[in-house]
Amino acid sequence: MRHITLRTSAIVRRLTAAAAAVLMLGAGAAGLTACQPKPSGRATPEAMVARTVDDHSYARPQEARVRHVDLDLTADFNKKVLRGTASLQLETEANAKRVVLDTRALDIEKVTDGSGAPLKYTLGKNDPMMGAPLTVELPQGAQKVVVHYQTTPEGTALQWLSPAQTAGKQKPFLFSQGQEIHTRTWVPTQDSPAIRQTYKARIVVPSDLTVVMAAKQLTPKGEAVPGQPRQRAFRFELDKPVAPYLIALAVGDIGFKAVGDRTGVFAEKVTLDKAAAELSDMEAMLDAAEKIYGDYRWDRYDVLILPPSFPYGGMENPMVTFATPTILAGDKSLVSLIAHELAHSWSGNLVTNATWEDFWLNEGFTTYFENRIMEQVYGPERARMLQVLGYHDLQETLDDLSAAGTPDFTRLHPDLKGVSPDAYFSDVPYEKGAAFLRMLEARFGRKKFDAYVKGYFERYKFKSMTTEAFLVDLRTNLLNNNADLEKQLQIHQWLYERGLPSNAIVPTSPALDQVMAQIQSFAGGADVKTLDVSGYSTQHWQYFLTQMPDTITLEQMAALDGQFKFTESQNAEIRAAWLTLAIKKHYLPAMTAVRDFLLAQGRAKFCRPLYTELMKQPGWGVDMARRIYAEARPGYHDVTRAVVDKIVK
Ligand code: BES
Ligand code: ZN
Repeated sequence: MRHITLRTSAIVRRLTAAAAAVLMLGAGAAGLTACQPKPSGRATPEAMVARTVDDHSYARPQEARVRHVDLDLTADFNKKVLRGTASLQLETEANAKRVVLDTRALDIEKVTDGSGAPLKYTLGKNDPMMGAPLTVELPQGAQKVVVHYQTTPEGTALQWLSPAQTAGKQKPFLFSQGQEIHTRTWVPTQDSPAIRQTYKARIVVPSDLTVVMAAKQLTPKGEAVPGQPRQRAFRFELDKPVAPYLIALAVGDIGFKAVGDRTGVFAEKVTLDKAAAELSDMEAMLDAAEKIYGDYRWDRYDVLILPPSFPYGGMENPMVTFATPTILAGDKSLVSLIAHELAHSWSGNLVTNATWEDFWLNEGFTTYFENRIMEQVYGPERARMLQVLGYHDLQETLDDLSAAGTPDFTRLHPDLKGVSPDAYFSDVPYEKGAAFLRMLEARFGRKKFDAYVKGYFERYKFKSMTTEAFLVDLRTNLLNNNADLEKQLQIHQWLYERGLPSNAIVPTSPALDQVMAQIQSFAGGADVKTLDVSGYSTQHWQYFLTQMPDTITLEQMAALDGQFKFTESQNAEIRAAWLTLAIKKHYLPAMTAVRDFLLAQGRAKFCRPLYTELMKQPGWGVDMARRIYAEARPGYHDVTRAVVDKIVK
């Protein structure tokens, strides 16, 4: 169940149509992208994307656009701030008067030109979600501005961890998480996924720490800082333009181990061997992905395993995926997450959602591609099981969203004006998006469909995409502009309407059908010893536990635990599923494990259901949730806090 609701907050400053039209210099027809398709006329996908307004950014890129960011920052672990400069290379209209940047929770000291001469600037009104626009006046012909600034603890992109919050317990740790609109809390730039930027960085840290960025590591061991013997500097470069949410940084006691020619693992030194063993199939995954959709364009693919408070499962930062340690199960059973983040190297990082209303273009394509990689590397049975698990999550999410009074969030292209993109985060863009592509695959055949997708990545590489522009591309390159076919395939319903269209293909898995038979037998009263669970993998158990009816008795819970030792499981997915059931049943022997698990990791996906189930139990459950949360909250990331704050009032 992937459903993390954060704040549905605040008014977003929006351009009026007239103001927008003025800004659409050279972009062809005026018009805003709304949630309904506009008659597209003969507009090319590129022109459609160019005229799109991102409601989650203050930037006015048609006047002046950031092309390159050069960071020079020092990490102060005592004050928990980054301090230094961001030099922005601009591309401007001939008589551009200003550049507008996104900022939030930053302390701006001054803004200068490339030679250090001060430039006039204003910091606009702060909006809790959007932050404040930083408008810098540009002298005639200026192509560069330098922002001198520091971050503040109110920023949401950076998490500063004390040694106690790390796996190694000896050194502090820092990491950034930019998606969706958090980069502006540590880099003052135009924070819109349609405004791709290259970057360089020099990061100065205490000399016992190592810096990793989602870029080419130019100085893996760091270099001396003149006059600062207790500091080291690390330099990075990403020469391919990316959306700013993909700029990423981590600092800690980090080591590296190669697992293949182009692949390797960064992790806290204490976690390194375990991580490298778990992820030893990465090179095979990379080869498989390339076979399906063409060359990998980012040179290396490494994964950084973060401390346990990382709020997401994984984040597809270019060249270096950031991932939770909860995937280190010891048996490679949870590596589909790596297949997913790797797939983003095509869907997301190469072709990027132009606005957060187009999020499904990132996640739906990636969920589809992830499963293809899993099929290639681990076989069709595992891939089918993962599809079925995803489909069940989707069904549940569709029901929940309707019950919660937000049925519009069951659309692939939601209207997020004035709404935080976090609020839309759910299984819908992932699993409904993937289901849409599976429907197309089934209708056109894999060969034709793959050729289309491969062509799509090639046509729009290093570009950003909207849903409406994708539709134009789809019509041209797959549907043969056949309007009847488009109607028959219910393309409009898929992209713009609620729920799941009737031509969705329901995935099936013989392996999971067998599991269902065991569940029914057990729930119907059969002795636990009679269950045939030979050869069960994590995915079998996940299904077993999530589909187990909660009408089973406490005696049956005890029998299951006695036979299969679920309470002792160290596999995070099995643990989360079992503990959810245990709370529902008030199965006391597992309650210590609930507390341990909630204190040991801060991944929102696992925290959310456990606190939710606890809060559903008046008396003991509510008390337990409050007690555990009081202890755990200081260790959680802002993302997870925002989720759990809403559950545990
Ligand atoms: N890009 C997402 C993570 C994300 C989404 C961060 C939205 C912030 C806002 C990443 O690729 C992702 O989807 N991660 C999943 C795991 C995946 C296997 C579905 C997660 O973190 O659970
Ligand atoms: Zn993803």
